[in-house]
Amino acid sequence: MVTTGSAQTALRFTDESFADRIRESLEAVEERLLKAVDTDQPLLRQSGSHLINAGGKRFRPMLTLACSHLGDPGRPGILESAVALELTHLATLYHDDVMDEAAVRRGAASANARWDNSVAILTGDYLFSQAAQIMAELGPEAVRAQALTFARLVRGQINETMPRPEGIDAVEWHLEILSEKTGSLIATCAKFGAWFAGAEAATIAVAEEFGEVIGVAFQLSDDIIDIASDQSGKTPGTDLLEGVPTLPVLYALAGTDPAEAALRDLVAGPVPEDRLDEALRLLRASSALDEARATLDQYRKRARNLAASLPEGPARGALLDVCDYMTERDS
Ligand code: IPE
Ligand code: IPE
Ligand code: MG
Ligand code: MG
Repeated sequence: MVTTGSAQTALRFTDESFADRIRESLEAVEERLLKAVDTDQPLLRQSGSHLINAGGKRFRPMLTLACSHLGDPGRPGILESAVALELTHLATLYHDDVMDEAAVRRGAASANARWDNSVAILTGDYLFSQAAQIMAELGPEAVRAQALTFARLVRGQINETMPRPEGIDAVEWHLEILSEKTGSLIATCAKFGAWFAGAEAATIAVAEEFGEVIGVAFQLSDDIIDIASDQSGKTPGTDLLEGVPTLPVLYALAGTDPAEAALRDLVAGPVPEDRLDEALRLLRASSALDEARATLDQYRKRARNLAASLPEGPARGALLDVCDYMTERDS
């Protein structure tokens, strides 16, 4: 088992010695994450370490480290970029929980619930500042790549709050949002691993595309878990309460089965808190969840084909294991 925390299925690498190497490097990542929030400002130190200590899967640094084995994993910059990108991810979680008014994160109170929105926003900003300092050491090309990645992520986050432009298919628009808000960062995690390891340009490009596609699969599985499971370390149905349309909801809304008319009425807007259990029950029983799983499977297969096209070696095997993990985590 490589990943930490979280009640969700943990990722396992088939190659045990590879898993040991990644685990060792992840311990170094952990130390540096805590160092990044070791400030003399007492509230920032407490609020910044709050979610690091609460758990989390460390999926992104794991991917950077795994992809570094597409080249020379001993090169400088790999560990640093893994830490900077996990800090970036962490910062977006603080901000996302404010946007989504989420009360629980990583099985603990979210920062906005534990303190307030201002503390959560400023803690996210502080984490970004720490990520930026690390990126600066990695050179202007890395800084630019991280900035462009973050611009895409923010674009996805803001588009999710906006009405869909006319003439665009709801599912297509939604999947584009997932690419931007989640695929963007995971793509850069994979790219940086291969890039700092000095892999060939074609290999770096495949790693980046793999990250983008598996990133969307990751978000899709997360959105299915939000409906199907009580074990995510987050409050089930948060998206439903906020009226954030996820793929299962979009498929439910597009359905025509008269037996599911009540479900369509219920999820057409934010679900009232006293009807959340009913909405979850109806969604769990609906064909929409299976349809969303089928879409997830398409992304997983695309990612698998990309991984399979990489040069033979332990990193390739690990990325294939990552594809299998995407199927397991939502079932
Ligand atoms: C949460 O990411 C946000 C999504 C993209 C679904 P993770 O599921 O990687 O969160 P942690 O880091 O394990 O808490
Ligand atoms: C995840 O947003 C994407 C980012 C944080 C950028 P969500 O709102 O879908 O993720 P969870 O469910 O809160 O983790
Ligand atoms: Mg959220
Ligand atoms: Mg959100």
